[in-house]
Amino acid sequence: MAEDNNEEATVKQKLSKLFETSLKLTLPDEPPIKPELAKGKFADYQCNNAMDCWKKVQGKTTEFQGPPSLGQAIKNNLPESEMIESCSVAGPGFVNVTLSDRWIAKNIQKMLQKGIGIWAPKLGVSRVVVDFSSPNIAKEMHVGHLRSTIIGDTIARMLEYSNVEVLRRNHVGDWGTQFGMLIEYLFEMFPDWENAGEQAIGDLQAFYKASKLKFDDDPDFKEKAQEAVVLLQGGDEKYRKAWSTICEISRQEFDKVYKRLGVSLEEKGESFYNPYIPKVVELLNNQGLVVINKGARVIFLEGVKIPLIIVKSNGGYNYASTDLTALWYRLNEEKAEWIVYVAGDTQNDHFKMFFTAAKCAGWLPADKNLYPKTSHLKFGQVLGEDGKPFKTRSGVVVRLVDLLDEAKTRCKNELVERGRAEEWTAEELEQIAEAIGYGAVKYADLKNNRETKYTFSFDQMLNDKGDTAVYLQYAHARICSIIRKSGKDIEELKKTGIIVLDHGEERALDDAEERALALQRTLALHLIQFAEVVEEACLKLLPSILCEYLYNLSEHFTKFYSVCRVVGSPEETSRLLLCEATAVVMRQCFHLLGIVPVYKI
Ligand code: ARG
Repeated sequence: MAEDNNEEATVKQKLSKLFETSLKLTLPDEPPIKPELAKGKFADYQCNNAMDCWKKVQGKTTEFQGPPSLGQAIKNNLPESEMIESCSVAGPGFVNVTLSDRWIAKNIQKMLQKGIGIWAPKLGVSRVVVDFSSPNIAKEMHVGHLRSTIIGDTIARMLEYSNVEVLRRNHVGDWGTQFGMLIEYLFEMFPDWENAGEQAIGDLQAFYKASKLKFDDDPDFKEKAQEAVVLLQGGDEKYRKAWSTICEISRQEFDKVYKRLGVSLEEKGESFYNPYIPKVVELLNNQGLVVINKGARVIFLEGVKIPLIIVKSNGGYNYASTDLTALWYRLNEEKAEWIVYVAGDTQNDHFKMFFTAAKCAGWLPADKNLYPKTSHLKFGQVLGEDGKPFKTRSGVVVRLVDLLDEAKTRCKNELVERGRAEEWTAEELEQIAEAIGYGAVKYADLKNNRETKYTFSFDQMLNDKGDTAVYLQYAHARICSIIRKSGKDIEELKKTGIIVLDHGEERALDDAEERALALQRTLALHLIQFAEVVEEACLKLLPSILCEYLYNLSEHFTKFYSVCRVVGSPEETSRLLLCEATAVVMRQCFHLLGIVPVYKI
């Protein structure tokens, strides 16, 4: 019997291995065939290879009469395995697989004993840069940056769970012509800036606006600002110091948001790559890729009319010069195999163009399925309930901190209304309101297919019914309370208890018993599919896949619990362990989505 010794592989991968062997045995003269497995409609999984295989061998052999007989052979050649209960062939050769109840139960027990880490998928990539959040200095972080921060953090968390080394990069916009104007304004308005710098500036956004007004209105100031850029980029000490003072104030503001969201990032802003740009331009130039066009140094790309400018006609560098250089750095210095850019879909053209340039330079393979590779994880705009870009009533950009505050306040009010202020300590009330509120904002964003625009609505995201984080938090808290009420030591049960999914009795079951068993098995099967769901969400860069899994998990649990008595039933131990496994997997989903679970509501 095939040994089940590869603990980390997903169920799908394990089955895939068995089918690989079978396909080799069935068609020994063909080159290796990749098994095509899908979650089955009529069984747990289904193997769909027979039709394609038939096309390959038709006319070459008399051994098979068509897809069904090929399917039959694939089934017969499957190595024996404890994971499979039964197989059947249907239609044009689909091989339907039903997993063994015992094996499913054993798998869950093993996870409970060894921890959820054993369900981490193996992705076949070891180091990934996730470039996310990346706001611009002196400008407020807005809802677009919120999307990038939330989505990027989840991608990073899922990869980290899958034992990938993740470089969480904050590519902040800390370099560019706007600094000339900011620095010059600082010198004029706050002559004492070196002593009182940060306090003097105060609200950086207002500072930015005021300096921009002056820049647009006052030609003398404009000229000075332009000179300031040259001085700054030339490394003048005083200008550098002013620049870093301004950056530091922004950084402190950004950090407050990251702290609240529980997101960690390492800043390597645009300025970091500046010293490397000339070398990279030279490299591309030596390859014959760079031409002079209207005074600028550009790269012409096949099929695109407008060239990619890498050095402006005045000799300055731009967004593309920095991104190309950052890519070079990430590939050569940081040795990343995959670089994921989490940025809005308004930047599609930018990413497409510099990715193509990197391919022309031979930095990336032409085949996009091979490493090293780059991906632009794009997302749609955030809309208000009026269907227009999300703004406050007075038409200004909504500040991120205000959104988080409001989510928390609304949750707190709700909890107070339910009388929790009397039951809990003030600290508990704060923490739980925050976990639910911030979690709701994150989940509402993540559950959507990220490429579509999404409408920001507090009423929707804070609803305790439907597909919301609030509903999911309730579901989780309820499971915790079932376990608490049992009075059993769950840690002890994990060590000694056994999960039983089959009834193990000879007598026929009545309908209600059949139904209970079926619902219990559906829940258990869903649990062991966790690893392959995370794998798919990582490889497709789609957090929504994990959200859907989590929501379905909670639905499966609700159905199970509505017909299966847990506490005080003859199956109490087994069912409590299923409850615990559900709670563990839910918590891991929450963790990957950056949501803090609550144990009571
Ligand atoms: N700072 C940019 C913005 O606010 C996002 C940067 C995305 N990352 C990158 N490597 N270009 O739109």
